[in-house]
Amino acid sequence: MADTLPPLSLYIHTPWCVRKCPYCDFNSHEPGTHGFTPRDLPESAYLKALLQDLDSDLVLAAGREIQTIFIGGGTPSLLSPAFYDRLLSEIEARLPFANGIEITLEANPGTTEQARFIGYRNAGINRLSLGIQSFQPDQLHALGRIHSGDEAITAVAQARQAGFTNINIDLMHGLPGQTPQLAMDDIAQALSLAPEHLSWYQLTLEPNTAFHSHPPTLPEEEALWDIQDSGHQLLEKAGFKRYEISAYATTNQQSRHNLNYWQFGDYLGIGAGAHGKLSHIDQNGEWRIERRWKTRQPDAYLKRMDDLRGFIAGKQVIKAYELPLEFAMNALRLIEGVTLETWKANTGLSSDMLLMRLQTAEKKGLLMQMPEKLRASPQGLLFLNELLALISED
Ligand SMILES: C[S@@+](CC[C@H](N)C(=O)[O-])C[C@H]1O[C@@H](n2cnc3c(N)ncnc32)[C@H](O)[C@@H]1O
Ligand code: SF4
Repeated sequence: MADTLPPLSLYIHTPWCVRKCPYCDFNSHEPGTHGFTPRDLPESAYLKALLQDLDSDLVLAAGREIQTIFIGGGTPSLLSPAFYDRLLSEIEARLPFANGIEITLEANPGTTEQARFIGYRNAGINRLSLGIQSFQPDQLHALGRIHSGDEAITAVAQARQAGFTNINIDLMHGLPGQTPQLAMDDIAQALSLAPEHLSWYQLTLEPNTAFHSHPPTLPEEEALWDIQDSGHQLLEKAGFKRYEISAYATTNQQSRHNLNYWQFGDYLGIGAGAHGKLSHIDQNGEWRIERRWKTRQPDAYLKRMDDLRGFIAGKQVIKAYELPLEFAMNALRLIEGVTLETWKANTGLSSDMLLMRLQTAEKKGLLMQMPEKLRASPQGLLFLNELLALISED
């Protein structure tokens, strides 16, 4: 097992959106149903709650430096620069920030303007992730987005003018009514804005979403393959290297925060429904990895400020037999895979046992490059769940 603590990140969740998108199963809520308007969110109460929430996790992280912070949602860009200015200084007063810390904020182009971006930059946020999804009016309409393609283009220009030198664009593909050509047009438009990073997700119909109960007509299987293949080539040709199933970056511009998840690093999670994973040595000198998650509904989360139970909705120590699956679920998403040494250090699985399982996966064509490095084959990336089930069999 590993004998040093892995790098530590911090995830901060903001649970509100102007309008719930029909495909989205993230913990995001329209504030109108809770008595607030999107521009009148309970900022000071949420700030107080986040800090109290962090304070209750500090015992597991005291003395450690934060390498990256990711402010996700929901729509974090609904909250003001002043909110983040206070929040980040209060966090730094509790946990030191590493030199060169990466601080990302997710922004929806329907909620931004120049002054906001300048304020975020001044508050210390140094990476923006813009949820654009598509530039085409028909696709944006089908996805229930609150912005146009032109507004998305303006948002990128304004972010650049505000001084952001590290920008991610989120695009989705396999959208209702989308032809391979339209999907390539979206990528070409995104590339013309010269982002440092591009996340390119295939639309999935998630349970408990409007799209799940009323599924839209999606492109045929063959068109989906075509989109995947041509999109991948277009991105690689433009210098965007695929380093995870859906993540592409220019040189040295990978998301350090997401890499820490995929490399099985530690992270604190604060805010409604946030998840954390922390390694520590317990009172008996034993190495433990604990997962904890916070109360999910925004109103209930806020009420926990005055509740002796605190914000934690559940926690669980990861058992030794669960480690291979937990580790694999993250590491095998990485295109480069992981070394066998890293695998053993993180899971404690003896190499005989591990090799046997890996050989089976390799025979099925789901894994490649054994034994020095483990890496999902192109087939394995497509059928990751099957690969994970094989590796984690009891
Ligand atoms: C939590 S959202 C954050 C961005 C911001 N809330 C917005 O939408 O503008 C993260 C990203 O996940 C992707 N996403 C959400 N639901 C998805 C789904 N069902 N299938 C594929 N990608 C999805 C979208 O690209 C989205 O930008
Ligand atoms: S804006 Fe983003 S988080 Fe909010 S509902 Fe849409 S995809 Fe989900």
